[in-house]
Amino acid sequence: MKNSKIAGLGKYIPKRVVTNAELETLMDTSDTWIQERTGIKERHYAKAGEETASWMGAQASLKALEMAGLQASDIDFIIFATLSPDFEFPGSGCPLQVHLEIPGIGALDVRNQCSGLVYSPAIADQFIKTGMYKNILVVGSEVQSTALNLKTEGRDIAVIFGDGAGAAVLTATENNAEGILTSNMHADGRFARELFMEDPGSIKPKRITKEMIDEGTIYPYMNGKYVFKHAIQKFPAAIEEALTKTGYKLEDVDLIIPHQANKRITEAIQMRLKLPKEKIFSNIEKYGNTTAASIPIALTEAYEQGLIKKGSLVCLAAFGSGFTWGANLIRF
Ligand code: COA
Repeated sequence: MKNSKIAGLGKYIPKRVVTNAELETLMDTSDTWIQERTGIKERHYAKAGEETASWMGAQASLKALEMAGLQASDIDFIIFATLSPDFEFPGSGCPLQVHLEIPGIGALDVRNQCSGLVYSPAIADQFIKTGMYKNILVVGSEVQSTALNLKTEGRDIAVIFGDGAGAAVLTATENNAEGILTSNMHADGRFARELFMEDPGSIKPKRITKEMIDEGTIYPYMNGKYVFKHAIQKFPAAIEEALTKTGYKLEDVDLIIPHQANKRITEAIQMRLKLPKEKIFSNIEKYGNTTAASIPIALTEAYEQGLIKKGSLVCLAAFGSGFTWGANLIRF
C-alpha cells in the first residue's frame, strides 16, 4: 500500500487587518482582556463577495501546487473543509474547481469545523493508500467575519475568530517511512449544542425567521468554559493515541501543530504533555482562530520558518464543534 506525503503547502490571508483596538470601537471589550484570555492581537477579515472561501482556498491551492511542482490539472480529487461555504449548498469544492479551472474531478466538502484539517488529510490518505487517487488537494478556508455578532452581546465569540485559507497537496509515495503514518478521528455529538450555530437549520419548521435574527440564533454560540475543559483533555489524548499507534514517543516529535483555538488552550496542552515551548507551534496572535484554515496556515508558516524540514516528525491535532477531535502523525 502507498503512503500519502505532503508535497506542497500554501496559505492566503485576507488583506484587511482587524486589531483588538478596532474591536474596542465596536463593542465593550479591551485589548488587555482579549490578549490575556486568548493571546490574540489581531485577525484578518475577508472582503465580502470578493475574498470568498473558495477564492481564498484557490489562492492557497495555487501556492501549494507551485511548491509541489504540479499543475492544477494534475489533481485527481478535492477535499474542502469549511464551516463557512460560499453557498448553503453546493459545497465550496465545486466553486474552487471553477477558480482552478479543473472541472470534472470529484469534490468533497468536509464539515468538521476546527477538526476539518485533521479529518481531511485522514480521508485523503485512504484514497491514496488504496491507489484510487494519486494527487489530492486538501483545502481549509473560512470567511467567519460575516457571521459574527460584532456588538457587545456577541463579544465572547467575535473577538476569537478570523478569516483565511490554507491548502496542502497530498501525493502518493512508495516510501512507507514518510507521509501520514497514522490518523485518528473522534466525535461526540452529545455536545453539539455547546459550540454551534443553531440557525438556519432543517430542525426548525422554517429556515429563517425574524425571531432568529432578533434572538441572535443566527450567530455562533459557544459555552467557552465547557469547550476549554474538553479541549485541554482531547488534544493530548489524540496526540498520545497517534504516538501509541506508531510506537513513537513525544520526544521523537519535532513539532506539534495544534488547531489554533486559543493561546491558553495551546499552553495547557504544552503543560499537560510537559513539552518545551518551541515544540508546539502558535501563530494565533496574528490570525485569531481560523477554524478549518488554522492548521494548514500554521503548517505553511512552520515550513516557511524552517521549523519543518525533510525528515521532521510532525503531529497535527484539533478539537472543536461537534465535539470533534483527532490527530495525524506525519513524517516529512
Ligand atoms: N471582552 C471583554 N469581556 C468579555 C468578553 C470580551 N470579548 N467576552 C466575555 N467577557 C466577559 C464576560 O461577560 C464575563 O463578565 P462577568 O464576569 O461580568 O460576567 C467575563 O468576561 C468573564 O467571562 P468568562 O466567560 O468567564 O471568561 P473566560 O475566562 O471563560 O474566557 C473564553 C472566555 C471564551 C476566552 C474562554 O472560555 C475560552 O478560551 N474558551 C475556549 C474557547 C475556544 O477556544 N473556542 C474555540 C474552540 S475550537
